[in-house]
Amino acid sequence: MKLIGVDLGGTTFSVGLVSEDGKILKKVTRDTLVENGKEDVIRRIAEAILEVADGEETPYVGIGSPGSIDRENGIVRFSPNFPDWHNVPLTDELAKRTGKKVFLENDANAFVLGEKWFGAGRGYDHIVALTLGTGIGGGVVTHGHLLTGRDGIGAELGHVVVEPNGPMCNCGTRGCLEAVSSATAIRRFLREGYKKYHDSLVYKLAGSPEKADAKHLFDAARQGDRFALMIRDRVVDALARAVAGYIHIFNPEIVIIGGGISRAGEILFGPLREKVVDYIMPSFVGTYEIVASPLVEDAGILGAASIIKERIGG
Ligand code: BGC
Ligand code: NA
Ligand code: ZN
Repeated sequence: MKLIGVDLGGTTFSVGLVSEDGKILKKVTRDTLVENGKEDVIRRIAEAILEVADGEETPYVGIGSPGSIDRENGIVRFSPNFPDWHNVPLTDELAKRTGKKVFLENDANAFVLGEKWFGAGRGYDHIVALTLGTGIGGGVVTHGHLLTGRDGIGAELGHVVVEPNGPMCNCGTRGCLEAVSSATAIRRFLREGYKKYHDSLVYKLAGSPEKADAKHLFDAARQGDRFALMIRDRVVDALARAVAGYIHIFNPEIVIIGGGISRAGEILFGPLREKVVDYIMPSFVGTYEIVASPLVEDAGILGAASIIKERIGG
């Protein structure tokens, strides 16, 4: 049986047809356009599901959505980067439009499941996963099981406070990891830095401060640009403090980092690995690995398809 995975992101969503062994056979990616309102987003996701399912036997859809979800009832309760999404009956709406059985999970929980079934988490029972994108998501597998907490909304690893006087987060708190180390935070730092650091290579690579993003930042940092390295250090330091905290709490075998930013390579992972060691107790040194997601841009779809495997048994 083939599976359909829907990766709903703040910027784009992707829908993929996935084989049992985790190959993406067909895929469409579209802009989410959150500003168009939830009805429009849901309608276009349903269209994409039907398009991808065309002619295939696909009774099940898994969808990973940002925010606090009610997995039993398939409802998105609250989502920091989707301002008008409050108690949205996502699975019912999609089921109505597609005729399929739809399973909902938090997107980063789906990501860690995808890594467990198909990626860097294979064979591990203790996994901490982070997605660095529009927001920062967290997923935790402990003793082989997805950690969900009392209301099923736990593992929000992006909303731990790492800079008490830091920038405001879309969740309403100040100084969350997401407000410092997400792609959105990096874009904001780059826009704000233009006044003082307009000579930085970042802006030459980007063409304008409005276009400057994480990719330009890491490219400029690799070439030794001082402003870029300063922002890189801030982003990595916040991430390292947070990851060190998760290592103390969960004692993971592996920490898997996904999302667009995870493609930065050594310019991110080198200092991250070093700083985490500075922030952990000696007994944890050497107990874990920190790796980039090997599934790269397919991680979201494979994660979403993995929800089906978890719910109906793989
Ligand atoms: C949300 C998470 C989500 C993450 C990535 C955060 O802002 O709170 O639930 O996993 O963004 O989309
Ligand atoms: Na999560
Ligand atoms: Zn927050």
